[in-house]
Amino acid sequence: MMKFQKANTLKGEVTIPGDKSISHRAVMFGSLAEGTTEVTNFLQGADCLSTIEAFRQMGITIENTPERILIHGRGLHGLNAPSDVLDMGNSGTTTRLISGILAGQPFESTLTGDASIQKRPMRRIMEPLSMMGASIVSINGNDCAPLHITGAPLHGIHYHSKVASAQVKSAVLLAGLYADGETLVTEPSLSRNHTEIMLRTFGADLTSEGRTAKVCPEPRLEGQKIHVPGDISSAAYFIAAGLLVPGAEILIKNVGINPTRDGILKVAQEMGGNITLLNENHDGEPTADLLVKHSRLHGVVIEGDIIPTLIDELPIINIMAACAEGTTVIRNAAELKVKESNRIDVMVQYLGAMGCDITGTEDGMVIVGGRPLHGTEVDSHMDHRIAMSFAIASLIAEGETIIKGSDVVNISYPNFYKDLQRLSL
Ligand code: S3P
Repeated sequence: MMKFQKANTLKGEVTIPGDKSISHRAVMFGSLAEGTTEVTNFLQGADCLSTIEAFRQMGITIENTPERILIHGRGLHGLNAPSDVLDMGNSGTTTRLISGILAGQPFESTLTGDASIQKRPMRRIMEPLSMMGASIVSINGNDCAPLHITGAPLHGIHYHSKVASAQVKSAVLLAGLYADGETLVTEPSLSRNHTEIMLRTFGADLTSEGRTAKVCPEPRLEGQKIHVPGDISSAAYFIAAGLLVPGAEILIKNVGINPTRDGILKVAQEMGGNITLLNENHDGEPTADLLVKHSRLHGVVIEGDIIPTLIDELPIINIMAACAEGTTVIRNAAELKVKESNRIDVMVQYLGAMGCDITGTEDGMVIVGGRPLHGTEVDSHMDHRIAMSFAIASLIAEGETIIKGSDVVNISYPNFYKDLQRLSL
């Protein structure tokens, strides 16, 4: 549990830790490549450590030091059957992506995870991976983990996903590495494309056109040097803090600005936020430094194709909307209900308790901004993005805000509170 007070102002620089999605993929693809993969700025968060442990359990040697990770890959067919159940912890990305890999292995495996993972929907990967020929059984019969996977020789398919989910897309593409022909995935809106970019870097024959990605089987993947950019989803809390706290000015260094992830920047600017991109670098995954200054925000409508590009940022965007003038409407975001917590219900409950006019809808929320916020007691529901969003809300709320389960930030940003503290004047 942690207690927070309203901030005077925030000033200074913050360097954001490595991107969670890219860190996971570096470990997975490095494990399936021949030779050594070196990863710098790897995110040492609990979710990514779950991915490392899972591949170690399948015989991959992974050296983890503060400076770099070395993954001694054993090629596409080099994994051993795990001797025990694989523990995914809290990580949806580990669970769904690894399922795609396990579907093509000549062995059986069982995956489980924490209470939250055991409630998250897995039918979305069970369906396409079964169509490809694997057997995936939800042991409790509820389409959630624990899952028992019997790998098999797989068939290439063209999968039309009902959800815009990079986890589903990636699971199918990874299984496609083990298929007997091409595998295609078409999604309703483009989700983050880190799998496509990085698998190509490792040597896979993978092409993308619009909302369809296509992979050819049996590539020879080769170990790479991967430098992980800062995670825009973690930067989002400092973007919001810089915009909302009076007098604030924050330089956020080395942030990944891949266009499939940068919806927060577009929305913040459309709301009237003063954000300047500096030192842009477009070699590989694009990055920039972000200079953020306190701004008067106004409400906007957020819907359609932009939603997957800011799906993890919607809780903190809710806090921005609460402080903006006018109404913000968020639609087409039903996926919020099946994240680490039900982020529609949790945001409505606690942002409402802070005095905000917020109404939940079937696929989003309506927020009438401008009411003053006051402190309250928030339960993180063991959701890292809920804890960080309300830590930022506390900076502009009158009185004290208490966050129960605050240490869940370890999932994606272990030094979050320290970094925030350093900026506070
Ligand atoms: C992720 C994809 C997103 C996101 C999650 C990480 C990934 O999930 O919410 O935090 O690394 O592929 P979906 O693709 O299922 O929406």
